[in-house]
Amino acid sequence: MGFNKIRLLGLCSYLLCLSFFIVVNAVNEERSGIGDGTEKGFVFIHGKSFIGKIDDDFVCATLDWWPPQKCDYGRCSWGLASLLNLDLNNKILLNAVKAFSPLKIRLGGTLQDKVTYGTEDYRHPCTPFVRNTKEMFGFTKGCLPLHRWDELNSFFEKAGAKVIFGLNALAGKSLQTGSAVGPWNYTNAESFIRYTVKKNYIIHGWELGNELCGNGIGTTVSADQYASDVAALRNIIQNAYRGVEPKPLVISPGGFFDATWFKEFVTKAGKSVDVVTHHIYNLGPGVDEHITERILDPSYLDGEASTFNSLKNILRTSATRATAWVGEAGGAYNSGHHLVSDAFVYSFWYLDQLGMSATYDTRTYCRQTLIGGNYGLLNTSTFMPNPDYYSALLFHRLMGRRVLAASFYGTKKIRAYAHCAKQSQGITILLLNLDNSTTVQTQVALRFTKQPYHRVKDREEYHLTTKSQNLHSQIMLLNGNILSVNEDGDIPPVNPLQVDPSKPIVVGPLSVVFAHIPDVILPACT
Ligand SMILES: *[C@@H]1O[C@H](CO)[C@@H](O)[C@H](O)[C@H]1NC(C)=O
Ligand SMILES: *[C@@H]1O[C@H](CO)[C@@H](O)[C@H](O)[C@H]1NC(C)=O
Ligand SMILES: *[C@@H]1O[C@H](CO)[C@@H](O)[C@H](O)[C@H]1NC(C)=O
Repeated sequence: MGFNKIRLLGLCSYLLCLSFFIVVNAVNEERSGIGDGTEKGFVFIHGKSFIGKIDDDFVCATLDWWPPQKCDYGRCSWGLASLLNLDLNNKILLNAVKAFSPLKIRLGGTLQDKVTYGTEDYRHPCTPFVRNTKEMFGFTKGCLPLHRWDELNSFFEKAGAKVIFGLNALAGKSLQTGSAVGPWNYTNAESFIRYTVKKNYIIHGWELGNELCGNGIGTTVSADQYASDVAALRNIIQNAYRGVEPKPLVISPGGFFDATWFKEFVTKAGKSVDVVTHHIYNLGPGVDEHITERILDPSYLDGEASTFNSLKNILRTSATRATAWVGEAGGAYNSGHHLVSDAFVYSFWYLDQLGMSATYDTRTYCRQTLIGGNYGLLNTSTFMPNPDYYSALLFHRLMGRRVLAASFYGTKKIRAYAHCAKQSQGITILLLNLDNSTTVQTQVALRFTKQPYHRVKDREEYHLTTKSQNLHSQIMLLNGNILSVNEDGDIPPVNPLQVDPSKPIVVGPLSVVFAHIPDVILPACT
């Protein structure tokens, strides 16, 4: 395949490759444009077939349980962002979720395996988490009262969210050194699920456990035991949702990828599991001072590809129909890093992750968090969108279900992804420029177009930048204008620039560009 040849490289020079491709736009021939700080590049797109398929609602975000007393490195970044205390009447919150219609929201996190549900048959007081350093994860058990569950569901319904609920997988297990043993006691979870069904709350998926696979965080559960616990969950769902269609997805294990553990789990869980979830914190601890450098280093970003690829191969070679999701990804663990994971620079990591995971057939990608910690899409105290909120929204609106093979010829500092366009014709290309001084004039070269290419419609471009190239700014500009909510708490419209399609796509230093080319019709997209 021509595309792989380019990838493996050496096999053909780009000029030779170009003879197989159709170039749809030209580099500015006016010499004045090219000079110091300007380079040319090509994005090659293979148009015959798609290489992956994402869910329509691929973009997902999480809500967590951490109470205000959760602190990391002397910083308490959770405020009132817990499922137990988040202000569900906030207008910006509602509008921010509504703007996706729908946004997948995964409810879970470290404390999920210490949550009890205040159902009628739960014969203990329903009290919140209490800080206790002697306890695993630094907190006691905490309880979700049913009236709060009602409020949450009323919010999700109003906002049009698709909910994934992470159940406590440690219930009934005994904690021994390093591992949790014995079968899952699902009594409390089953009552909770039955209550949810009785109330007609729509749950998109029930997930079992958080970071208990492989080596585990805090403790671990063997793949063999996990597979039988998931089979029990499937059974409960089959029974509780009798006569209800479609049934919620059964999702697991929601932890760090470990090839041996995942292979055994997928094999033994068989048909019990619909979605296999893994978590990504590949940038190191939040306290680290070098997160920004890692994000801007293309070879560092490439490092995560092997995980996506390995999981894809496990699913492909196992007798399972399960698909892969990233169930939680915050980049930097222990709540992220203020003015890094809630600032402009994080969009390079985040959008690269969305693009890369999609090429390996990841169907959904949940960002830690929607709100809370230092990595929220929304500011924990003001609810104002951080830069990554807008990145998520543009990805969601512009990148369609079918993922195309795209590769960039030119500087290594450009990351390129392409999908069939969403809800419109053509394709959308995502370009990330990690370089702080070079502008890249990008030509688009296509292999296998459906029909002779006629440039008719304008290209629609969305350029994301930050103020004065300050990577640590929490302000994002779209096509030169600051994005901000108005006094009524409305999310601003995200409108494109109309660009002459014969011109190159100009990707400025430290910028992100989404380019929608409406009249490129590829067999892969039709
Ligand atoms: C399971 O948990 C419930 C409380 O939710 C308890 O009443 C029951 O005894 C437990 N079952 C076993 C087998 O431990
Ligand atoms: C939230 O927004 C305010 C106002 O812009 C800002 O001062 C503060 O640093 C932000 N908080 C976080 C955690 O980003
Ligand atoms: C631009 O990036 C290089 C590293 O790629 C760095 O050495 C230099 O200080 C940066 N310049 C500015 C103005 O940030």
